[in-house]
Amino acid sequence: MCGIFGCILKKGLVAPQILDGLKRLEYRGYDSIGVATLHSGIIEIRKDKGTIQEVTEKLKINEMKGTIGIGHTRWATHGAPNMINAHPHTDTHGKIAVIHNGVIENFLELKQELIEKGHIFLSKTDTEIIPHLIEEELKQNKILKLAILNALKRLIGSYALAVISSLEPDKIICARYESPLVLGISNDGLYCASDVPAIRPYTNKVIYLRNGELATLKVDGYEIIKISDSTVIHRDFEEIEWTLQESEKQDYDHYMLKEIFEQPISLKNGLWLQEQYVDLLTQFLDRGKEVLLLGAGTSNHACIAGSYIFSKLARLTAYPVISSEFIECYGSSIGIDSVILAVSQSGETYDTLKAVDHARMRAATVLGLTNTVGSTLTRVSRAYLIQQSGPEIGVAATKTFTSQVIVLTQIALKLAKLRGKLSQDELDEYEKNLYNIPYWVETVLNRTYLNIKSIAKKYKNSKLFLFLGRGISSATAMEGRLKLLEITYIPCLAYPAGESKHGPISVVEEKVPCVFICPKGSTRSEIIGSIMEIKARGARIISICEEGDSEIIQLSDDVVEMPKGIPDLLSPIPYIVPLQLLSYELALIKKLDPDKPRNLAKSVTVP
Ligand code: AGP
Repeated sequence: MCGIFGCILKKGLVAPQILDGLKRLEYRGYDSIGVATLHSGIIEIRKDKGTIQEVTEKLKINEMKGTIGIGHTRWATHGAPNMINAHPHTDTHGKIAVIHNGVIENFLELKQELIEKGHIFLSKTDTEIIPHLIEEELKQNKILKLAILNALKRLIGSYALAVISSLEPDKIICARYESPLVLGISNDGLYCASDVPAIRPYTNKVIYLRNGELATLKVDGYEIIKISDSTVIHRDFEEIEWTLQESEKQDYDHYMLKEIFEQPISLKNGLWLQEQYVDLLTQFLDRGKEVLLLGAGTSNHACIAGSYIFSKLARLTAYPVISSEFIECYGSSIGIDSVILAVSQSGETYDTLKAVDHARMRAATVLGLTNTVGSTLTRVSRAYLIQQSGPEIGVAATKTFTSQVIVLTQIALKLAKLRGKLSQDELDEYEKNLYNIPYWVETVLNRTYLNIKSIAKKYKNSKLFLFLGRGISSATAMEGRLKLLEITYIPCLAYPAGESKHGPISVVEEKVPCVFICPKGSTRSEIIGSIMEIKARGARIISICEEGDSEIIQLSDDVVEMPKGIPDLLSPIPYIVPLQLLSYELALIKKLDPDKPRNLAKSVTVP
């Protein structure tokens, strides 16, 4: 996620404080940085691709003049990491500078509208339309705050943004919708930032801006209003007790837990994809004589879930393939009619890139789905999609898995529509349920965590876990197994429940915990049979099922009840959440660091 920081001081230069604030936001992940300050009636901007240290040394950012300024660390979502795309961005005449964290979904149509009015754009970013929009609004009325309010009302998507202008050089105006923004109040000046770490060294007096609010910061005070109707909000500051160290993860003990709880937001961002890129991938997939979904680890599990989704929605057979086995298994059979969709959060996984290189040599069409703009996968793909989950610091993939699945589902729905495989009612129903997913995940997070903690305590001494599911839930089972395996080191098995009687059931004995993922769906009667089979051998049954599912509940020793109405085909996204939390809690009980599991790296860039 990008980091934003704004500061207005009674005296002294802001640049050093802006740089310090941005350094405390580095953990959010970034690929370029920039700072704008206001002095002698002009806006000066220094920005480039690179780390804060590299760019500061190169451009002498710490020497910039001015007592008011804004700074930005960019995690690219639109447009590769480079100087032109780095923030801040300005209007035509350089009188308005804007920094932004979020995704503007309708930026292309707004950009076209502005181009027709004569605006010229330099970057590929969605953000750059904001200062130009404000410039246009200023033609209608000369008050900066009103112009910004009118501009914000045109935006669809998420934003936390800060604006400075040489037209009104005594203020910073900031606003948020979905992306976080916090204000800091001190005797020496006022601050706005993406979150607490950036301003903690200067004050412990903070105000959390809420969705749909705009704040005006001046050296002698602040004003908060509602964007919708300009109602003034009277909100006092809170005094925070966090130490700086703690606040880097906000109030979470580990990045993994923070990223698990970020999923409602990351999933919403995953629903605001750039339509034209989804269409492009869909066209390529539709033309393929054979489609293979390529991924390693968690990304492979997203591909397994994707194979069910593509088959059931678009009637497309898409083979999930583990990256490291791709060349041996399909290297000689793929060709010009093959389409390979490579899924990789980092976009740098060696096994996946090696497979992609081979596929390209065989003249196959390679498409990419990644979380990292500018990654190698984006450069070697014929077309690619950015899943927009924001950076994931924890080694164990959590929010990036659920984002991968929600993006694959959107592509499958597009393909289903293109191929006429679903009726309009079915398409509408799936579309509606897609937008319910972030809220279902939020409900699961709020409703099940206490229960998960007690289940973790109950099974903390178990030496083996099984994870079973049928149909698409076999993908959820495999991902749940991987989470537990990689951060608690407890040996785990996972496989489609129907496979039990073909061998794995031999490991089942008294008290072995067996996690069944059993949403209501077409495989329900079979999963009940599997549960009874395993239960008969003395296993402890832990079921993740729909609330009130009495038949499953009666068969289970422990139950995690999920919200009603989640379609089986979309279930991996909400149903993986309790398993993410279970692995996290068991790691804590075993006094392990969930963020840094032994022997593992966040991105495996070696053979
Ligand atoms: C998952 O929790 C692990 N971090 C690992 O399996 C990971 O999914 C795998 O290395 C693939 O990474 P990628 O998505 O960046 O390609």
